[in-house]
Amino acid sequence: MKTAVANRFIWLGGEIVNVNEARINVLSPTAQFGLNVFEGIRCYWNEEKQQLFAFRLEDHLKRLKRSQRLLQMEDRYSLDELRQAFIAVIKANNYKEDIIVRQTLFVDGFGSWSSTSPVNMFISPIPKTHTSAEYNKKGLHCCISSWQRINDNSLSPRIKCGANYINSRMAQLEALRNGYDTTIIMNKEGKISEGPGSCLFMVKNGELVTPLLTDSVLESITRDTIIRISKNLLQIPVGERSVDRTELYICDEAFLCGTSMEITPILSVDRFIIGNGGAGDLTTKIHQTYLTLVTGNIDWYDEWLTPIY
Ligand SMILES: Cc1ncc(COP(=O)(O)O)c(C=O)c1O
Repeated sequence: MKTAVANRFIWLGGEIVNVNEARINVLSPTAQFGLNVFEGIRCYWNEEKQQLFAFRLEDHLKRLKRSQRLLQMEDRYSLDELRQAFIAVIKANNYKEDIIVRQTLFVDGFGSWSSTSPVNMFISPIPKTHTSAEYNKKGLHCCISSWQRINDNSLSPRIKCGANYINSRMAQLEALRNGYDTTIIMNKEGKISEGPGSCLFMVKNGELVTPLLTDSVLESITRDTIIRISKNLLQIPVGERSVDRTELYICDEAFLCGTSMEITPILSVDRFIIGNGGAGDLTTKIHQTYLTLVTGNIDWYDEWLTPIY
């Protein structure tokens, strides 16, 4: 029997519990100071193969451990334990549809913002009802944010922690206030970094270009996937380099990408129309290939797919 969203099972502190019964300490460092690191991981249901595939699970779990290490949180769970708990909670819900899973390590107990333990974990899967094919029809009108992206010498964008999202929040809410769908944030050098929860690509003269990982960008798994499928499957040249704001205004195509939004075209930046104002040809091609890959329909990328059942 399928579990209702408001009644689903999550993994918390070694047990699988109904989400309504899950409790955390309000005085814990995670509740008071946002002391947590996390991953958003997609699983795609393949009807033909009757299988649910987690996409690049190992890479997500390795990044989770890197984030935990950079925040000096206690190293409580091995990679194996992280993976086993992830699979167990999806099976407990018997999901046979596209889902997104939040896997969070947090500092529990009664400590302060500098506490390194005790580390606890929750894993929360939820059906993903909106697909990027729907977002794609719409596309996004973006502005350049007046806020600056956090940087490696303040709060490293390399760490996927809850606290980093306050910078994204400031930028996103400013964009919404001013009538845009979302925003693109510049780094402290004034170069393009990324969206509030996504990485950025543009197309210029047939080349796919994306900011450097050292330009205040999360080490995004979708960014890496797009670079590899563009180079290896689609023979599209890819450049990783710093990008100016005005380059973006006059590029041929642009899109944002991430585990959750997959690939979503940018229609305009600061009201400069990009390309013909719709999804560009290369964007569409990359998007289609991406969806074929993540759903388990391109065999030679099998090592990126973990079967749940
Ligand atoms: C700031 C930021 N950049 C990029 C991404 C995309 O990362 P990934 O492709 O690993 O989901 C995210 C996703 O959470 C993000 O929050």
